[in-house]
Amino acid sequence: MRAELDFIWKRRSVREFTGEVLDSETYRELLEAAMAVPSARCCDPWEFVVVSDRSMREKMATILPNGQFLNRCGGAIIVCGDLQKAYMGSLSYMLQDCSAAIENILLAAPALGLGGCWLGVHPREERIAGLRQLFNIPENIIPVGVCALGYPVNTPVPRTRYDASRLHGESWDEGVIL
Ligand SMILES: Cc1cc2nc3c(=O)[nH]c(=O)nc-3n(C[C@H](O)[C@H](O)[C@H](O)COP(=O)(O)O)c2cc1C
Repeated sequence: MRAELDFIWKRRSVREFTGEVLDSETYRELLEAAMAVPSARCCDPWEFVVVSDRSMREKMATILPNGQFLNRCGGAIIVCGDLQKAYMGSLSYMLQDCSAAIENILLAAPALGLGGCWLGVHPREERIAGLRQLFNIPENIIPVGVCALGYPVNTPVPRTRYDASRLHGESWDEGVIL
């Protein structure tokens, strides 16, 4: 595998953090990366909630049961979507655009010496409602996912989950050897 693609293999979910908090410049760089993704018809239907306050992250952990490490990370970003801004007002396009933004944040993180983990929000209604209430997010904005971010205690092993059995030729039943 080419070294130029190392930044992809290095994106691994990190759930243990030193507790050192992210500074404003780091948030800015992560958000620049988020807003560099492709979006359908370039509608950019996203909004971002930057959660640097630790007590707010502790409250988030009560809403996101699989995100207990929000207490110990260095900061978090809630990626939200605005259906009215999405191409064709489509939920699917909005989710695809916001997911791309989440992925770019997580790809940028290791390049800045950080680790991160995607915490699922949409389509769980109780998580959407909980985050809306905690952060005063308007009803027309949908929280899609959370990036928990911080300085990792350990650096995970870079990897891919490449599986040649998932490849198909011009006819679905034809395998492809790659
Ligand atoms: C939509 C989505 C929701 C996820 N939600 C959680 C979560 O709530 N808690 C968590 O620890 N990891 C969560 N993850 C991370 C996955 O568990 C992780 O990406 C997967 O196990 C592969 O490991 P890797 O990220 O190290 O490659 C989520 C990932 C996605 C894409």
